[in-house]
Amino acid sequence: MKTSVLFVCLGNICRSPTAHGVFQKQLKERKLHRDIHVDSAGTGAWHVGKSPDKRAIQAAAAAGYNLKQLRARMLVEEDFEQFSYILGMDEDNLAAINDMRPKSYDGHTGLLLDFADDSLGYREVPDPYYGGTRGFELVLQLVESACGGLLDHIQAQ
Ligand code: 4NP
Repeated sequence: MKTSVLFVCLGNICRSPTAHGVFQKQLKERKLHRDIHVDSAGTGAWHVGKSPDKRAIQAAAAAGYNLKQLRARMLVEEDFEQFSYILGMDEDNLAAINDMRPKSYDGHTGLLLDFADDSLGYREVPDPYYGGTRGFELVLQLVESACGGLLDHIQAQ
């Protein structure tokens, strides 16, 4: 299986599209965008087909990432045939991923922040949807660290 990464959150409009955009840019910077495929998905259906949340787009744009072209979709069983890493933003997301995980899947399911710098002090990416701007900035900070760590990990394989 080609190395490929799927980021998963609840709505696929805040955290996982942020990870998608950040990882995509990091892949381009390391000239790996042709070798590693990236996508994002949600475990809930409410926002399917929608653009990322305006606040996520803004926080990402302020740091040089473009999320505008992304559209929300749901996690589906076929994703376990396509993606070698399926990473949840929080424990609920990971439980939903593992509930769908076929016995035959030989990729990695886990939490994105397992690849982040421990000094950040977070194991999960907090859901920013019902909070303010600061929550979206925190998402970006956590995701940037973890995506860099994930790419280091993949490159070391
Ligand atoms: P996300 O945030 O899982 O990071 O995309 C959320 C987006 C929408 C909702 C919850 C979380 N919602 O309840 O609609």
